[in-house]
Amino acid sequence: MQGLIKSKTQTNYFTMLENDNNMPPTLDDSLNSPDFRTLGEVTVPRPIMKTKNVNVFYGEKQAIYNASLDIGKNEVLAMIGPSGCGKSTFLRCLNRMNDTIDICRIEGEITLEGEDIYGRNMDVVLLRARVGMVFQKPNPFPKSIYDNVAYGINLHGLTNSKSETDDVVEDALKRAGLWAEVSDRLNQPGTGLSGGQQQRLCIARAIAISPEVILMDEPCSALDPIATAKIEELIDELSQMYSICIVTHSMQQAARVSQRTAYFHLGKLIEVGSTDLIFTNPGHRLTEGYITGRFG
Ligand SMILES: Nc1ncnc2c1ncn2[C@@H]1O[C@H](COP(=O)(O)OP(=O)(O)OP(=O)(O)O)[C@@H](O)[C@H]1O
Ligand SMILES: [Mg+2]
Repeated sequence: MQGLIKSKTQTNYFTMLENDNNMPPTLDDSLNSPDFRTLGEVTVPRPIMKTKNVNVFYGEKQAIYNASLDIGKNEVLAMIGPSGCGKSTFLRCLNRMNDTIDICRIEGEITLEGEDIYGRNMDVVLLRARVGMVFQKPNPFPKSIYDNVAYGINLHGLTNSKSETDDVVEDALKRAGLWAEVSDRLNQPGTGLSGGQQQRLCIARAIAISPEVILMDEPCSALDPIATAKIEELIDELSQMYSICIVTHSMQQAARVSQRTAYFHLGKLIEVGSTDLIFTNPGHRLTEGYITGRFG
């Protein structure tokens, strides 16, 4: 990560903003124009999910403008941008978590392995098993550690016997890097674990049902640096089996864990590219402004 972010003195895109030290740049005409296009390649050769021309509204207010973005198989995609730019909104579209918000309306097309996730035949419970989610604040159920992980397995009837469930629970806890810490207290409440352990429990709960994609919305923001490092290592390992979409406010984290980065600004997907490129040579002045710490 060191040296990835250019120093502010190298910035030459900002002449028009020079007198505007702390204010975020406003949308300029090019962003408001109907011809606005995301900079960079929004598609990938091996997509697992595709979003096309997605608009999201909360009542009258538009939160996402015409965003198109692929999520590749086995890739870690980071979503970054200033607070309120629509990262969580966009992420929640991917497993229809926005369905739970009455005033939220979504336009556009989102597919998982070619299947329209907003189509009539889509079973939303199944969709959320295939596209699992880990939230900012660890949210274990008020159940035992074992039952937290077994919950989805039982809900979806994925095993035929208790011993098979035991095996899947153990495997998920091992893959989440938690087994060694909890194997002797599986019947104790999940809520009794430390914050970092709870977050790994939530990851174990998500992976126990073999999702294809895991969405993570600032999964480390409530954790200390050691717990954060464990989750980051885990993300790296998990990406061998799953596709991961992570929202983060930490540029260092995005640079450490992701291969591709998407930058959002005021509801627009401004730029997408390889993480190395976005952090060393961003194409858009708004991306550069954010990663060099000028605003956000
Ligand atoms: N449930 C909601 N009802 C109404 N408006 C909402 C709702 N959730 C989000 N918004 C609005 O949509 C816009 C995008 O919000 P969102 O939470 O997606 O941003 P974010 O990029 O995740 O921000 P943060 O980094 O602070 O989490 C904001 O203007 C926000 O106020
Ligand atoms: Mg958010």
